[in-house]
Amino acid sequence: MNSPTAGATAPGLAEEVARRRTFAVISHPDAGKSTLTEALALHAKVIAEAGAIHGKAGRRSTVSDWMEMEKARGISVSSTALQFEYGGCVINLVDTPGHSDFSEDTYRVLTAVDAAVMLIDAAKGLEPQTLKLFQVCRHRGIPVITVINKWDRPGRAPLELLDEISERIGLTPTPLFLPVGIAGDFRGLLRRGEDGAATEYVHFTRTAGGATIAPEESYTPEQAAEREAEVWATAAEESELLSATGQDHDQELFLAGQTSPVIYASAMLNFGVRQLLDTLVELAPPPGPRADVDGTPRTPADPFSAVVFKVQAGMDAAHRDRLAFMRIVSGEFERGMVVTHAQTGKPFATKYALTVFGRERATVDTAYPGDVVGLVNATALAPGHTLYVGKKVQFPPIPSFAPEHFATLRAQSAGKYKQFRKAIDQLDSEGVVQVLRNDTRGDASPVLAAVGPMQFEVVTARMQAEFNVETHLDHLPYQLARRTDAESAPELDRQRGVEVFTRTDGAILALFSDKWRLQYIQKEMPKLTLEPLVATAD
Ligand code: G4P
Repeated sequence: MNSPTAGATAPGLAEEVARRRTFAVISHPDAGKSTLTEALALHAKVIAEAGAIHGKAGRRSTVSDWMEMEKARGISVSSTALQFEYGGCVINLVDTPGHSDFSEDTYRVLTAVDAAVMLIDAAKGLEPQTLKLFQVCRHRGIPVITVINKWDRPGRAPLELLDEISERIGLTPTPLFLPVGIAGDFRGLLRRGEDGAATEYVHFTRTAGGATIAPEESYTPEQAAEREAEVWATAAEESELLSATGQDHDQELFLAGQTSPVIYASAMLNFGVRQLLDTLVELAPPPGPRADVDGTPRTPADPFSAVVFKVQAGMDAAHRDRLAFMRIVSGEFERGMVVTHAQTGKPFATKYALTVFGRERATVDTAYPGDVVGLVNATALAPGHTLYVGKKVQFPPIPSFAPEHFATLRAQSAGKYKQFRKAIDQLDSEGVVQVLRNDTRGDASPVLAAVGPMQFEVVTARMQAEFNVETHLDHLPYQLARRTDAESAPELDRQRGVEVFTRTDGAILALFSDKWRLQYIQKEMPKLTLEPLVATAD
């Protein structure tokens, strides 16, 4: 089990890899991500009824519902990854935080998936958070499947939404299904054939409150024309129009991130959800190779390797430990195997490997590329770190999101300085916030940099709860950061409205009071190095 080549020769590894589909949902809050997750679980028969957890009040208790379910059924549902079998595949839905203040966490999750589902509200179209996350998918070359949700409610015209996608983000939408019936009168889906001709009509029947899977009936295009008359004719015409502009699915272009298959759906009524699952099974890519720091690909058939994409600590009082979540890149994982932590070169025992769901944890004995596994008390592990067996491999670090909020933090009592420093280092390595320092401000009041202000709240709350340090936070009047270098730093530091810092990872960042200040300096001093940080919205 501890042999350095464990996994490479494991029987069935190739089959297990081929049937893995690992994806995340990217969306703006309220587009229906939780509802869709429940609907997917319902279709995968992980849960018997979605009604109980639909609706605002119900959804708040989703977590406890999941926990009860997990106990009752022995399934592996986690707040980090929901794993289920569907159509012969093992599907890993990796959870992303709902609030945009935590988009840095979402960004890290996107380094752990092979595909993304971009969920759009039919009435609202593309919203800021979706756009931002889509840019991350593009940057990472993650293929995107688009789901236009809430078609049961009045919304925009189907083709208008597609135009918005191609015009605003340059992604060519290639619907696999078109809605039959306008938004608000969702009757079913027209399945598009290769040349855009309709091949099937899937008619849905509503169930009470969308609690159970919506019954489907399949009709031929001729039967559909008879049954739905005008609304069918409209959908069929739209399908042909799309073909005329080349908007038909092309697997290669989809995998290259140039086109996106589209499905119209109602997560609430469970319409189009089975079609999404079938699409994931048929079109989404299985785990593939990942390039290491030198650009050499590590293929799934290679000996075990994994990348840590999330660290969570203090999840609840009963388990005051630190969990590192890894996505397996290659080889078979067996609990207990001893792996090497690439960043320190030290061995790491994987005796405590878990799937985690809220407070409930289940032991994982075996896992394959694409799967997500939590490691207990992995104090040395941080997002971006690599674990491996056999020949050394190290994956590139996860780039940080561009922070837009800045504040200094200090311990209220000078006597707590030691704990304060320890806590800052801990939260920094977990990636809760970025920590910036410069000589002027000193180590007693480092600057915290965040994508959203709620990250600061997490820091101060954890400082108190876990480290028993009361802190004082002072917001700083900076709005954006640029990467610079040691040569440009002194000149920048002399400018009004600018301050230069070193981040823990060694990056030199210049903070600017506002974008006009930045533009002015760029214009006046064009020789200075000022590069945007990755995944900026500006
Ligand atoms: P999120 O996780 O992306 O933030 O979204 P969530 O699933 O919580 O859904 C946000 C709101 O949109 C919820 O309404 C939810 O019921 C509704 N919703 C989600 N999918 C659909 C859909 O396909 N059709 C319709 N009509 N609504 C949908 P809410 O007002 O917050 O709660 P409630 O109406 O359920 O009480």
